[in-house]
Amino acid sequence: MSGASQRVPLDLHVNGEAHTFQVRMHDSLLDVLRREGYTGAKRVCETADCGACSVLVDGRLIDACSTLALQVHASRVETIEGLAGAMLHPLQETFLRHAAAQCGYCTPGMILSMKALLERKPDASEAEIREVMTLCRCTGYVKPVAATLEYRDARGQKRPERERRE
Ligand code: FES
Ligand code: FES
Repeated sequence: MSGASQRVPLDLHVNGEAHTFQVRMHDSLLDVLRREGYTGAKRVCETADCGACSVLVDGRLIDACSTLALQVHASRVETIEGLAGAMLHPLQETFLRHAAAQCGYCTPGMILSMKALLERKPDASEAEIREVMTLCRCTGYVKPVAATLEYRDARGQKRPERERRE
């Protein structure tokens, strides 16, 4: 077996489930996730420019296309498939309500990038939201930004109530 095709084990927690995948040394995290059925992470530019392949690794937003799978050995990975439980995540609901997707190809990356931004910076400005947002070829940014702002504001209103109870 040649070195390029040799497979080695990669331990990953994906959406809360432990896995050991057999991967090639040069596989990107995107290669592995898509091969294993997590196709919500999309392959577009493969140059870390568009954000369509965004996933969270140990809570941090990364471009899976430009991350070697073995670099994230033993990490926690969250993909769009893990976001909804019995109900859609509230950010998915606002995207739906605002009709913020057209073909939907960029939407998983958009939602994960907005979630990561607002967890890190709950009062992110519209300019900051636009800066982090995944590139979109069809629907543009008006509706995704409006959906994200609505989610940001709803989270902001809930926080004082939660703080009062604690
Ligand atoms: S496909 Fe990874 S950033 Fe575009
Ligand atoms: S909705 Fe089609 S690329 Fe964004």
